[in-house]
Amino acid sequence: MFEKKVYLQRRATLKSKVNSGILLFLGNEESPMNYKDNTYHFRQDSTFLYYFGISEPSLGAIIDLDEDEIILFGDEMGIDDIVWMGRQKTLEEKSLDAGLTKVLPYAKLNTYVKQYLGKNREVHFLPPYRSENKIKLANWLNLSIDQLKEKASLSFIKAVISQRSVKSIEEIDELDRAAAISADIHLMVMQQAKPGMYERELAAKIQGAALASGGNLAYPVILTVRGEILHNHYHGNQLREGQLVLNDSGVETALGYAGDLTRTFPVGKKFTAEQKDVYDIVLNAYTHGKDLLAPGVRYLDVHLVSCKMLAQGLKDIGLMKGNIDDAVQAGAHAMFFQCGTGHMMGLDVHDMEDLGEQYVGYTDELTKNTTQFGLKSLRLGKALETGYVLTVEPGVYIIPELIDRWKAANQFAEFINYDKLEQFRNFSGIRVEDDFLITENGSRMLGKHLAITTEEIESIRSEAY
Ligand code: GLY
Repeated sequence: MFEKKVYLQRRATLKSKVNSGILLFLGNEESPMNYKDNTYHFRQDSTFLYYFGISEPSLGAIIDLDEDEIILFGDEMGIDDIVWMGRQKTLEEKSLDAGLTKVLPYAKLNTYVKQYLGKNREVHFLPPYRSENKIKLANWLNLSIDQLKEKASLSFIKAVISQRSVKSIEEIDELDRAAAISADIHLMVMQQAKPGMYERELAAKIQGAALASGGNLAYPVILTVRGEILHNHYHGNQLREGQLVLNDSGVETALGYAGDLTRTFPVGKKFTAEQKDVYDIVLNAYTHGKDLLAPGVRYLDVHLVSCKMLAQGLKDIGLMKGNIDDAVQAGAHAMFFQCGTGHMMGLDVHDMEDLGEQYVGYTDELTKNTTQFGLKSLRLGKALETGYVLTVEPGVYIIPELIDRWKAANQFAEFINYDKLEQFRNFSGIRVEDDFLITENGSRMLGKHLAITTEEIESIRSEAY
């Protein structure tokens, strides 16, 4: 946990952002893998973690804005828990660490919520994403599961987003550490990968190093020679000379802050000429994108500049043609880049995505109302502010099924050179990604420098085996 004053301050700020009523927080439950007591790694809900700091299952809390009362709901360990799990700090001790003075048994939370509703007091809640919390909320609030999203409190959602979006000094320290540890792990993978290895051997090294760092993975490892599959979690391929390895992985610190980095490197010691060409196109898009980052700049424009750089580069090597501005406006570049250039980061690798992309990444003036393939996957469009933390992660992904589909429909034939593209059919994908803090004057990369140019990467690969 951070120091007590951090949580006191965070809750005081939140209280000043919502007018009246009850703010209801639900922590996460244990999640069973195959039977009740065999559970997945426990991860606390990030908003609960942000305001209360306690990472243990089956907790809830309320902030009564009118009575100025804060109550934590949870149960002390019984002797059975101690026998199986060992003695830990009591909940009362943990609550004091978080600056909380009133703790009640978890079963009372339901009673409190019903009492508030009986007195016609407004109970603000955030959109739940775990089934257990959906069921609980639906029962307590007398709503159907389907109604929960629409009935979640917009004022609560917006207050939390405005606060969590701007990272404090202690959060930036954590995010810096998460990115630095992630960079060390990426370097280790780049140094140790060899032809003949299986993807899973490298994925295992990443997972082991994340645990060894005292934290965990921030998201499932993407380590693949099929880098064109954007979130490829399959690790069964053998690495063969001539292929590329795309490593998208990051750690979260013990306090829950995420790193999210991607590098793509050759299985062999050198990129082929074709791989180098495409890599440099992606790197150019990354450089132009990151150089634009500054308060007041819309991330939508960072994205569009990156897309234009990709499209221009692809035109230069004969894969695209025609007017680049028109091609990007029409969405033709999405044959090669099907997603957004980046997203917010923090306690979640896609920070606060549970609270709604419209509120995290867009504004009332800049709504996300596009269905355009590619652009519809841009999670962040709004103007940046000092203290935001986000990724820049352009890529080129050659997806055979997409080629076949678009080619058959003659889609964007004025912008895509399908004959040339056939030669790249089995190219796979390249992505580069770093994490950035928006500063008063621009931005700063978090963590530490990690080999990114083809020369730097080849230099590391030349000593790998
Ligand atoms: N790096 C994984 C993701 O952004 O979803």
